[in-house]
Amino acid sequence: MIIIETIENTTIWDFPDRGKWLNHDGKYRGNWSPHVPKNLIIRYSQEGDVILDQFIGGGTTLIEACRLNRKCIALDINNNALNLCKEKIRIFKENKNYFIGKCDARNLSIIKNNSIDLICTHPPYANIIKYSKDNEKDISLLGFDEYFKSMKEVAKSCYRVLKHKKYCCILIGDTRKNGFIQPLGFNVMNIFLQQGFILKEIIIKKQNNCKFTDRWKGICKKRNLYLIEHEYLFVFYKI
Ligand SMILES: C[S@@+](CC[C@H](N)C(=O)[O-])C[C@H]1O[C@@H](n2cnc3c(N)ncnc32)[C@H](O)[C@@H]1O
Repeated sequence: MIIIETIENTTIWDFPDRGKWLNHDGKYRGNWSPHVPKNLIIRYSQEGDVILDQFIGGGTTLIEACRLNRKCIALDINNNALNLCKEKIRIFKENKNYFIGKCDARNLSIIKNNSIDLICTHPPYANIIKYSKDNEKDISLLGFDEYFKSMKEVAKSCYRVLKHKKYCCILIGDTRKNGFIQPLGFNVMNIFLQQGFILKEIIIKKQNNCKFTDRWKGICKKRNLYLIEHEYLFVFYKI
């Protein structure tokens, strides 16, 4: 299959066609379009580099990293995500340049300091989508306060494992509570800045193909709210 590598050049990204090359699909709840890791990997890394996604979910970053001849460390706390990754990666019969493992993104003790070339990841948006029922390490089960405490540990770990002069990219969206916006995105951005990262880019990504859009459209109309149709892609730099 020939894949045309169209590359984004502005700070607004919109992928109405989510990307269905290789074995990408939208089946894992809340997964990101492969266009996102593809663009980040091509712009911010070289062949042979080590890419980390510690919230790997259904394996989108893993597939893109391997396809683009990078090494990939793919971690998650939920077994169903890890099993899906192991299944999906089988399309690369020869490629052994990846590691899939169970690990809490708040404590990346299995990874050495200053060893990662690019972090490209997509954490839960607090408890908007719950990825398990009773996994105590799953941060998608946490309310806002505990979630932000956890994201501080995630940011600390990112800073420790990333090499100097390299990038850490995080996709995150906002939500509403009682009709008022909850700026998860800006809170998480500030948490990363407090750990020492410098902000390189803020990219606005349009949300497409969301399961609950129709329901939210009804709520917004009834309650005179704007439909949230964007997420933030923060690109941080470690000096
Ligand atoms: C938004 S999803 C990632 C989706 C992924 N980008 C994809 O394309 O499939 C977030 C993931 O974080 C995982 N997760 C939740 N808490 C975690 C933790 N403490 N450490 C590692 N992964 C965690 C969930 O199991 C879920 O798979």
